[in-house]
Amino acid sequence: MSGAPFRIAVLASGAGSNLQAILDTLHEGPEGVVVAAVASDKPDARALERAQAVGLPTASFPLADHPDRAARDAALADWVAGHDVRLVVLAGYMALLTPAFLQRFPQAIVNVHPALLPAFPGLDAVGQALAHGVKVFGVTVHFVDEGVDTGPIILQRALELPHARTREDVLGELHAVEHELLPAAIRLIARGAVTLDPADPRRVRLEP
Ligand code: GAR
Repeated sequence: MSGAPFRIAVLASGAGSNLQAILDTLHEGPEGVVVAAVASDKPDARALERAQAVGLPTASFPLADHPDRAARDAALADWVAGHDVRLVVLAGYMALLTPAFLQRFPQAIVNVHPALLPAFPGLDAVGQALAHGVKVFGVTVHFVDEGVDTGPIILQRALELPHARTREDVLGELHAVEHELLPAAIRLIARGAVTLDPADPRRVRLEP
């Protein structure tokens, strides 16, 4: 790899298996991607332990420590920006980011969502899909805008599970797809292969 490392921050609220996939397949690898910082809204998130285990700077920003969401997100944005990152990756970050946070990192925040958007945005996407009786599940990686899981789509992959009845029937295979798709999207962005179509900014162009 030549040139400066492509530094990213990861925000995660939970177990951090997607963070782990990024650490295992991308961090300090030949593509030049470096996870520079990991933050959470939950001080006890397992994701923070995974980051600390490899010596990364971590911080938590629980809402209860701040007057409101805007103040929490301002502190979070300052901390993230202080690590000089070019991309913010939401890997199971379950708090909605405020517009002021989004404006600090324009077109530089991506999210992984466990459904084929625009189907089943928001919380418990897999539960929503099961309740709907779908036979095809999936994963979406998209840019983050002010809506709930509404930003331009970078990568999607479908997962046919026609007999799935419970979350357990879905989650193992779905996570495996996430663990490939999210690093793949970050790799493409780091390589400069992802642009918004100026004629239609909803459409994400991927260089072959
Ligand atoms: C992942 O399945 C991710 O898609 C989902 O949270 C999980 C986090 O798992 N995110 C959302 O639902 C966001 N709307 P992890 O903590 O093991 O990476």
